[in-house]
Amino acid sequence: MVWATDPEVTQHLRWETYSSRAAAEEFFETVVKKHPWFQAIVVDSEVIGSMTLEKKSGDFRCVAELGYVSAKKYWGRGLMTEAVALALKRGFQELDVVRIEAKTHPNNVGSQSVLEKNGFVREALLKKAIVRKGNIEDLYLYAITR
Ligand SMILES: CC(C)(COP(=O)(O)OP(=O)(O)OC[C@H]1O[C@@H](n2cnc3c(N)ncnc32)[C@H](O)[C@@H]1OP(=O)(O)O)[C@@H](O)C(=O)NCCC(=O)NCCS
Repeated sequence: MVWATDPEVTQHLRWETYSSRAAAEEFFETVVKKHPWFQAIVVDSEVIGSMTLEKKSGDFRCVAELGYVSAKKYWGRGLMTEAVALALKRGFQELDVVRIEAKTHPNNVGSQSVLEKNGFVREALLKKAIVRKGNIEDLYLYAITR
Protein backbone atom coordinates (compact mmCIF):
# COMPACT_ATOMS: atom_id res chain seq x y z
CA MET A 1 0.00 0.00 0.00
CA VAL A 2 2.78 2.42 -0.93
CA TRP A 3 0.25 4.97 -2.22
CA ALA A 4 -1.37 5.29 1.24
CA THR A 5 1.85 6.56 2.82
CA ASP A 6 2.50 9.28 0.21
CA PRO A 7 1.17 12.78 1.10
CA GLU A 8 1.12 13.80 -2.58
CA VAL A 9 -1.28 10.92 -3.28
CA THR A 10 -3.63 11.74 -0.38
CA GLN A 11 -3.66 15.54 -0.81
CA HIS A 12 -7.05 15.53 -2.58
CA LEU A 13 -8.48 12.59 -0.63
CA ARG A 14 -10.55 12.54 2.54
CA TRP A 15 -8.23 10.29 4.51
CA GLU A 16 -4.87 11.09 6.05
CA THR A 17 -1.61 9.50 4.94
CA TYR A 18 -0.98 6.26 6.86
CA SER A 19 1.96 6.43 9.21
CA SER A 20 1.90 2.95 10.71
CA ARG A 21 1.37 -0.65 9.73
CA ALA A 22 -1.27 -0.92 12.47
CA ALA A 23 -3.36 1.84 10.83
CA ALA A 24 -3.20 0.03 7.48
CA GLU A 25 -4.19 -3.28 9.10
CA GLU A 26 -7.13 -1.64 10.84
CA PHE A 27 -8.23 -0.18 7.49
CA PHE A 28 -8.17 -3.71 5.99
CA GLU A 29 -10.20 -5.14 8.86
CA THR A 30 -12.79 -2.40 9.24
CA VAL A 31 -13.19 -1.17 5.65
CA VAL A 32 -11.72 -3.43 2.95
CA LYS A 33 -12.93 -6.80 4.26
CA LYS A 34 -16.49 -5.54 4.84
CA HIS A 35 -16.77 -3.45 1.68
CA PRO A 36 -19.19 -4.84 -0.92
CA TRP A 37 -17.20 -3.48 -3.92
CA PHE A 38 -13.52 -2.81 -3.19
CA GLN A 39 -11.08 -3.84 -5.95
CA ALA A 40 -7.29 -3.85 -6.00
CA ILE A 41 -5.60 -2.42 -9.11
CA VAL A 42 -2.80 -4.82 -9.98
CA VAL A 43 0.10 -4.33 -12.41
CA ASP A 44 2.66 -7.13 -12.91
CA SER A 45 1.44 -8.87 -9.71
CA GLU A 46 1.92 -5.68 -7.66
CA VAL A 47 -1.05 -3.94 -6.03
CA ILE A 48 -0.67 -0.32 -7.15
CA GLY A 49 -3.99 1.15 -6.06
CA SER A 50 -7.65 0.62 -5.36
CA MET A 51 -11.07 1.26 -6.85
CA THR A 52 -14.37 1.42 -4.94
CA LEU A 53 -18.01 1.65 -5.87
CA GLU A 54 -20.58 2.54 -3.21
CA LYS A 55 -24.15 1.72 -4.18
CA LYS A 56 -26.57 4.14 -2.56
CA SER A 57 -29.70 2.97 -0.76
CA GLY A 58 -33.44 3.66 -0.66
CA ASP A 59 -34.70 6.01 -3.36
CA PHE A 60 -31.08 6.49 -4.53
CA ARG A 61 -30.37 2.78 -5.11
CA CYS A 62 -30.05 3.43 -8.86
CA VAL A 63 -26.82 5.36 -8.16
CA ALA A 64 -23.28 4.33 -7.19
CA GLU A 65 -20.32 6.54 -6.28
CA LEU A 66 -16.87 5.82 -7.66
CA GLY A 67 -13.53 6.37 -5.89
CA TYR A 68 -9.96 5.50 -6.90
CA VAL A 69 -6.33 5.98 -6.02
CA SER A 70 -2.99 4.74 -7.33
CA ALA A 71 0.70 5.00 -6.47
CA LYS A 72 2.50 8.06 -7.89
CA LYS A 73 5.05 5.92 -9.73
CA TYR A 74 2.23 4.74 -12.03
CA TRP A 75 0.57 8.10 -12.77
CA GLY A 76 0.32 9.49 -16.27
CA ARG A 77 0.40 6.14 -18.11
CA GLY A 78 -3.31 5.86 -18.74
CA LEU A 79 -3.68 3.13 -16.11
CA MET A 80 -6.47 4.77 -14.11
CA THR A 81 -8.36 5.64 -17.27
CA GLU A 82 -8.28 1.94 -18.17
CA ALA A 83 -9.15 0.83 -14.62
CA VAL A 84 -12.15 3.19 -14.46
CA ALA A 85 -13.40 1.85 -17.81
CA LEU A 86 -13.36 -1.67 -16.35
CA ALA A 87 -15.04 -0.51 -13.13
CA LEU A 88 -17.83 1.16 -15.11
CA LYS A 89 -18.48 -1.97 -17.12
CA ARG A 90 -18.57 -4.18 -14.03
CA GLY A 91 -20.35 -1.63 -11.84
CA PHE A 92 -23.29 -1.14 -14.19
CA GLN A 93 -23.63 -4.93 -14.57
CA GLU A 94 -23.08 -6.07 -10.98
CA LEU A 95 -24.69 -3.30 -8.94
CA ASP A 96 -27.86 -2.80 -10.98
CA VAL A 97 -27.40 0.98 -11.16
CA VAL A 98 -28.04 3.40 -14.03
CA ARG A 99 -25.91 6.28 -12.79
CA ILE A 100 -22.33 6.36 -11.50
CA GLU A 101 -21.10 9.54 -9.82
CA ALA A 102 -17.69 10.83 -8.82
CA LYS A 103 -16.71 13.96 -6.92
CA THR A 104 -13.35 15.65 -7.37
CA HIS A 105 -11.59 18.61 -5.87
CA PRO A 106 -11.52 21.43 -8.49
CA ASN A 107 -7.69 21.37 -8.44
CA ASN A 108 -7.53 17.63 -9.11
CA VAL A 109 -7.09 17.93 -12.87
CA GLY A 110 -5.64 14.42 -13.26
CA SER A 111 -8.79 12.89 -11.79
CA GLN A 112 -11.06 15.11 -13.91
CA SER A 113 -9.18 13.99 -17.00
CA VAL A 114 -9.67 10.31 -16.06
CA LEU A 115 -13.42 10.88 -15.68
CA GLU A 116 -13.84 12.92 -18.87
CA LYS A 117 -11.89 10.36 -20.92
CA ASN A 118 -14.42 7.79 -19.67
CA GLY A 119 -17.46 9.78 -20.74
CA PHE A 120 -18.35 11.37 -17.40
CA VAL A 121 -20.02 14.78 -17.62
CA ARG A 122 -19.27 17.56 -15.15
CA GLU A 123 -22.78 18.36 -13.92
CA ALA A 124 -22.16 20.87 -11.17
CA LEU A 125 -19.82 22.76 -8.92
CA LEU A 126 -20.97 21.90 -5.40
CA LYS A 127 -20.16 24.96 -3.31
CA LYS A 128 -18.79 24.39 0.21
CA ALA A 129 -19.72 20.74 -0.09
CA ILE A 130 -17.23 18.96 2.16
CA VAL A 131 -15.16 19.42 5.31
CA ARG A 132 -11.89 17.81 4.31
CA LYS A 133 -8.98 17.74 6.69
CA GLY A 134 -10.50 20.66 8.59
CA ASN A 135 -11.22 22.86 5.53
CA ILE A 136 -14.57 23.53 3.86
CA GLU A 137 -14.09 22.93 0.14
CA ASP A 138 -15.97 22.95 -3.17
CA LEU A 139 -16.33 19.78 -5.25
CA TYR A 140 -17.10 19.07 -8.88
CA LEU A 141 -19.89 16.55 -9.37
CA TYR A 142 -19.31 14.21 -12.32
CA ALA A 143 -21.71 11.51 -13.54
CA ILE A 144 -22.23 8.98 -16.30
CA THR A 145 -25.56 7.27 -17.00
CA ARG A 146 -26.65 4.37 -19.11
C1 LIG B 1 -5.97 11.05 -10.24
C2 LIG B 1 -5.24 9.74 -10.54
C3 LIG B 1 -6.15 8.61 -10.17
C4 LIG B 1 -4.89 9.69 -12.03
O1 LIG B 1 -4.31 8.43 -12.32
P1 LIG B 1 -3.43 8.21 -13.66
O2 LIG B 1 -3.12 6.76 -13.75
O3 LIG B 1 -2.32 9.21 -13.67
O4 LIG B 1 -4.49 8.60 -14.76
P2 LIG B 1 -4.31 8.53 -16.35
O5 LIG B 1 -2.85 8.42 -16.68
O6 LIG B 1 -5.22 7.47 -16.82
O7 LIG B 1 -4.89 9.92 -16.83
C5 LIG B 1 -4.66 11.10 -16.11
C6 LIG B 1 -4.48 12.27 -17.01
O8 LIG B 1 -4.27 13.42 -16.18
C7 LIG B 1 -2.90 13.82 -16.28
N1 LIG B 1 -2.44 14.06 -14.93
C8 LIG B 1 -2.21 13.17 -13.96
N2 LIG B 1 -1.80 13.82 -12.84
C9 LIG B 1 -1.79 15.14 -13.14
C10 LIG B 1 -1.47 16.31 -12.43
N3 LIG B 1 -1.09 16.25 -11.14
N4 LIG B 1 -1.58 17.49 -13.05
C11 LIG B 1 -1.97 17.54 -14.35
N5 LIG B 1 -2.30 16.46 -15.08
C12 LIG B 1 -2.20 15.29 -14.48
C13 LIG B 1 -2.17 12.69 -16.95
O9 LIG B 1 -1.04 13.12 -17.62
C14 LIG B 1 -3.24 12.17 -17.88
O10 LIG B 1 -3.33 13.10 -18.95
P3 LIG B 1 -4.11 12.86 -20.34
O11 LIG B 1 -5.57 12.93 -19.97
O12 LIG B 1 -3.70 13.98 -21.21
O13 LIG B 1 -3.70 11.52 -20.83
C15 LIG B 1 -3.93 9.63 -9.72
O14 LIG B 1 -3.18 10.80 -9.94
C16 LIG B 1 -4.16 9.48 -8.22
O15 LIG B 1 -4.28 8.36 -7.71
N6 LIG B 1 -4.21 10.61 -7.52
C17 LIG B 1 -4.41 10.60 -6.06
C18 LIG B 1 -5.78 10.09 -5.66
C19 LIG B 1 -6.92 10.85 -6.29
O16 LIG B 1 -6.83 12.06 -6.50
N7 LIG B 1 -8.00 10.12 -6.59
C20 LIG B 1 -9.19 10.68 -7.17
C21 LIG B 1 -10.05 11.33 -6.15
S1 LIG B 1 -11.49 12.06 -6.90
